[in-house]
Amino acid sequence: GKKGFIFDLDGVIVDTAGFHYLAWRNLANELGFEFTEEQNELFKGVSRVRSLEILLEIGGVKATEEQKEGWLVSKNEEYLSYIAKMTENDILPGVLKVLTYLKEKNIPMALGSASKNAQPILKRVGLFDLFDCIVDGNHVEKAKPDPEVFTLGAEELEVEYTDAIVFEDSIAGIQAANRVDMVSVGIGDAKVLHEADYNFNDFTEIDTAFLDQLINA
Ligand code: G6P
Ligand code: MG
Repeated sequence: GKKGFIFDLDGVIVDTAGFHYLAWRNLANELGFEFTEEQNELFKGVSRVRSLEILLEIGGVKATEEQKEGWLVSKNEEYLSYIAKMTENDILPGVLKVLTYLKEKNIPMALGSASKNAQPILKRVGLFDLFDCIVDGNHVEKAKPDPEVFTLGAEELEVEYTDAIVFEDSIAGIQAANRVDMVSVGIGDAKVLHEADYNFNDFTEIDTAFLDQLINA
């Protein structure tokens, strides 16, 4: 059937994964413990609230609801201060070429992100209008690895789940796509994303022959 492409945002389209990491690490340090990049892999694709829970588990920190609420706000404020400085230069290498190619071919495209900041980020980097639909952290109940963010995207694009192709940099996101038999394309370390159907270090490795193969499959 007709194919639809669904893109994660953070770490796939824009270089924000490092900003999330920095903000969580600073909170961890404030609370008196370390938070490594390796541990951060498990945070990718995971909602803000769930990320804080995991962080506090790592640090062995018990907290009241009020404290947690405060940390969620301060983490996001720090994150927002980083994204306020973003420009189109923060679009990851090769992404624009792939998106433009698909757009020229009239391939339906959706964003599928856990982030509640997805829309302002897309506007900042000038990609908002490229997507036919945006499904983000404001629209879903269940976080990745639940596939809700992708199934909603496929439904809005009016493509079958098996005709949806998902680009993801997170373990949780690859698992979400696989759960509903979407085609999963891992962006990043193949060792980390070994459950993906395909793997690339970044979008510069993705050529039009590969895209055509996906479109015509
Ligand atoms: C993405 C990122 C996560 C982040 C989540 C929520 O999935 O990979 O690291 O925690 O979005 O983002 P938000 O902008 O709503 O805090
Ligand atoms: Mg991501």
